[in-house]
Amino acid sequence: MKSFTIMFVFAVCGVASAADYDRPPIEYGTAPTNDVITSLNEKIRKGNAELKHTDDHGYLKSLLKELDVPLSSQVLVFSRTSLQRSRIGPKTPRAIYFNDDVTVGFCQRGDVLEVVASDPNLGAVFYTLDQNPAKEVAFTRQTESCLLCHGSSSNQGFPGHLIRSVSPDRTGEPVFSRGTKRVDHSTPFADRWGGWYVTGTSGKQTHMGNSIVGGWPGQDDDAENTNVTDLKPYFTAANYPTTHSDIVALMVLEHQCEMQNRLIRANFQIRSALHEQRELNKAFREPATYRSEGITRRINHACESVVRYLLFCEEAKLTEPVAGTSGFAKEFAARGPFDSQKRSLREFDLKTRMFRYPLSYLVYSKLFDGLPIEAKTRIYSRLLEILTEKDQTKEFAHLTKEDRRAVMEILRETKGDLPVDWKR
Ligand code: HEC
Repeated sequence: MKSFTIMFVFAVCGVASAADYDRPPIEYGTAPTNDVITSLNEKIRKGNAELKHTDDHGYLKSLLKELDVPLSSQVLVFSRTSLQRSRIGPKTPRAIYFNDDVTVGFCQRGDVLEVVASDPNLGAVFYTLDQNPAKEVAFTRQTESCLLCHGSSSNQGFPGHLIRSVSPDRTGEPVFSRGTKRVDHSTPFADRWGGWYVTGTSGKQTHMGNSIVGGWPGQDDDAENTNVTDLKPYFTAANYPTTHSDIVALMVLEHQCEMQNRLIRANFQIRSALHEQRELNKAFREPATYRSEGITRRINHACESVVRYLLFCEEAKLTEPVAGTSGFAKEFAARGPFDSQKRSLREFDLKTRMFRYPLSYLVYSKLFDGLPIEAKTRIYSRLLEILTEKDQTKEFAHLTKEDRRAVMEILRETKGDLPVDWKR
């Protein structure tokens, strides 16, 4: 009996690693999904929705419309770094489209559309849609093939989103000896967009977009490829639903992917910690509400990583104005929600930083709302401490008094699930 207890404790006490996500309580590969593709698949199956196929883009445009994903979010990546690499290159970049809940990947003559959808319990759920019009229109959930890259060590082993900057050669192949970089809102412009097309202006803030190692034929290695607003010289952009790879859409996507990854990791880590605590309480006949210091520490640690990123700690500063070309910024900002003074967390600054009010709009997302209550309670209490200046640590010194007050006021009016101590 005793040895059983010891073995049991070993089994449940090991720090939950990412590879555990197929076991309870997450059961990533087998638990039912609850995301925008789950419902669209169901609508299609019942005949309540239909995706239209066109010769040039297959189901892409129809899918984006069904999912309410704006065409202005289009960004183009020409490095051969993803699933359908043989279809990708400087003349045939891969296009990516997104809104808060879903990201869609398209390749010219690609076999499938690639989709990542946010699920409140499972985080990032991966799907493919066969582009062959002769086949049945149905999304296939992918629990292994995508995770080879999207669940690799670059995301600490958790299933999640991927954005990289590489040094591509003239075929789009990354030159690995020059290094590659994960990108999020903390990455300096100078290191961003290697292997991507970028349309928009950023003044003297140069970046790696629109460039290849050695320079395009007829160009020097260090030719100016920043402040490009028309991609015509590079490839036939008219072959795509829009001709843009908007710089602001890129910045938002990069902010979003890392925010989503942190929310997913926190969700998995905290639910695993709570699950362990429940099992231990049962084994040791502790009251069901008992929580050890170790478990509390793990929960708080996971929440802190979310809080810091929500508040744009370590965001790369802008030194000059940034402007896109596709109208993305306007459409994005119009989505709200707005408070009674017409303020919104989606309002852009784009002069010294990305957003006017430094709290991520992903506080309204499915992934945030899907966090266990224990996590939300902790995150809201930390936010309140910081926004009311009770927490004055250096980490949050980038937040002015006015920033903190504005963010608190906006949240109070636009976020329905705030704890009572927020209401004063
Ligand atoms: C060979 C590695 C690899 C595989 C396998 C892979 N991806 Fe990706 N994926 C990437 C990389 C790298 C990026 C970053 C953009 C780029 O370089 O193209 C990315 C980006 C994406 C994006 C946009 C950003 C994001 O993460 O939301 C989507 C959507 C996506 N992949 C979907 C999928 C789906 C669906 C599958 C499986 C059917 C898949 N990918 C398989 C490497 C891969």
